[in-house]
Amino acid sequence: MSAFTTFARNLLNALDTYHTLEDWLSWVDELSTKDYVIIDNFLKGDLYSTVRSFFLSRLSHFAQAGIGALDNHTVHQEIRGDHTYWLERSRDIELSDFWHLLEETMQVFNRYCFLSLSGFEFHFANYPPGGHYARHLDQFQNRNNRMISMIIYLNEGWQKGDGGELEIYHKDESTILVEPLGARCVLFKSADVPHRVVEAHKARFSLTGWLLYRPASLGSLF
Ligand code: OGA
Ligand code: MN
Repeated sequence: MSAFTTFARNLLNALDTYHTLEDWLSWVDELSTKDYVIIDNFLKGDLYSTVRSFFLSRLSHFAQAGIGALDNHTVHQEIRGDHTYWLERSRDIELSDFWHLLEETMQVFNRYCFLSLSGFEFHFANYPPGGHYARHLDQFQNRNNRMISMIIYLNEGWQKGDGGELEIYHKDESTILVEPLGARCVLFKSADVPHRVVEAHKARFSLTGWLLYRPASLGSLF
């Protein structure tokens, strides 16, 4: 074990973290080399149930998603068919354990990837049957502060044939299909990884967000 890893281990062990340092370091390593990482059971039992229940309790407040920074742009259903609900840390205190997990996540990236993350923006997303999201990158032309994309799926009993897989494009244009299984998390570099959501045949739930170089708007998220 290198002196650096030992040092890192001591640092994080001193904190009460949700995931172990071993896990974090292996995920960070995979993200740095492959540009993305898929983590099963990222949300454990209690936190997964809390997040999913809160999602269901907000469903009647979802709105048709737009395209562009903070959805300020037009709705194009041929590009994107999901309905979203933007979260706010100060209002959505039901998610406090999740907000803490995000702080841990940002600390890990700042420490081990030498990123300068200082905020995040998250929304719930519901793709109704027939919904999809065409190939895109998560960075906007007029706003490039999205560094890391993070998607956590909330689908119970997803089966082949239900659709709604996340398709990730590699540099050589080969792809992988990621099944949107409950509690699974996908992290990828927002500027570098083209991706799309394959048409869903059943309602498809997720918690999706971005770790930001600077907060989207001071005050609202922190
Ligand atoms: C997005 C997106 C992918 C997914 O919201 O930008 O690409 O798997 N979502 O939900
Ligand atoms: Mn995307």
